[in-house]
Amino acid sequence: MFNHFLSGLELDQQGALKLLNLAQQIKAHPFEYSQALAGKSIVTLFEKPSLRTRLSFDIGINKLGGHAVYLDSQNGAMGARESVKDFALNIATWADGIVARVFQHTTLTTLAEFSSVPVVNSLCDLYHPCQALADFLTLQQVYGDVSQLKLAYLGEGNNVSHSLMLLAANLGTDFVAVCPKGSSPDAQILKQAEQIAAMNGASVMVSDRVEAAVGANALYADTWVSMGDNTPLEQVKEKYKAYQLNTALLKQTGADTVLHCQPAHREVEITSEVMDGPASKIIQQAENRMHAQNALLVTLLNPNFV
Ligand code: CP
Ligand code: NVA
Repeated sequence: MFNHFLSGLELDQQGALKLLNLAQQIKAHPFEYSQALAGKSIVTLFEKPSLRTRLSFDIGINKLGGHAVYLDSQNGAMGARESVKDFALNIATWADGIVARVFQHTTLTTLAEFSSVPVVNSLCDLYHPCQALADFLTLQQVYGDVSQLKLAYLGEGNNVSHSLMLLAANLGTDFVAVCPKGSSPDAQILKQAEQIAAMNGASVMVSDRVEAAVGANALYADTWVSMGDNTPLEQVKEKYKAYQLNTALLKQTGADTVLHCQPAHREVEITSEVMDGPASKIIQQAENRMHAQNALLVTLLNPNFV
């Protein structure tokens, strides 16, 4: 059992599969879980903007009979008015859990160090583990056994690609990150993913050539400029243009599923034709954020219920 969910590495293969199974159960039988978090309050702290994460946690917690308290980027900016340590010490006296979207992963590790209640990472510079759970829940729904799949991520090698590659490795999915030179995933996280993949008979690759995505079942896009990066989008369009998720790339790779964590820039990293087309599972993927997170919260806050 794990106390916090910061990198996603807290789950081994069995734990991840169990959690995805619970997510399917909660999605299929919501009324059976309507009191799973009764009497529990969860503080959601956001240092960055959000649509999906904020709402899927808030509404999801409500559907489990719990209570969510949102702190926005002014009141949730840890270290500004008081230290991260004092945020953790205070919040843990009232709340049963903390969900935090932060700039620096170290903010999460400090929160976890001083919080006596579980801390969940809802995006940082290095990881977006709740997103990856929803993504693999979606792939399971589409294909069943994800260990037979190849997933190709195209774009910048950062938080979303890291969490995808770690969970892919964990679940035995072949994974390739197709990123322009200079925007590859973090070398240490890649090494970790390679080691986990080797134990599960899967492969993890990084390439700057879109040909590496040929044979993938699913293609995955993310924004070319992440939150907190002040580079104008116009400035990176040339660098990333070969990595756009469009109909030609779908044909070239033979993929039949398209994912995007959103928010999406239409006609930039993904075309509307693909985003709204038959291969797109992007809205199902967004819906699954709530089911995957609910499974995580029940597992962390009320394990006897599982
Ligand atoms: N995918 C995702 O985390 O979306 P938000 O930034 O809107 O929460
Ligand atoms: N890589 C993106 C993901 C948004 C959900 C970002 O960090 O902004």
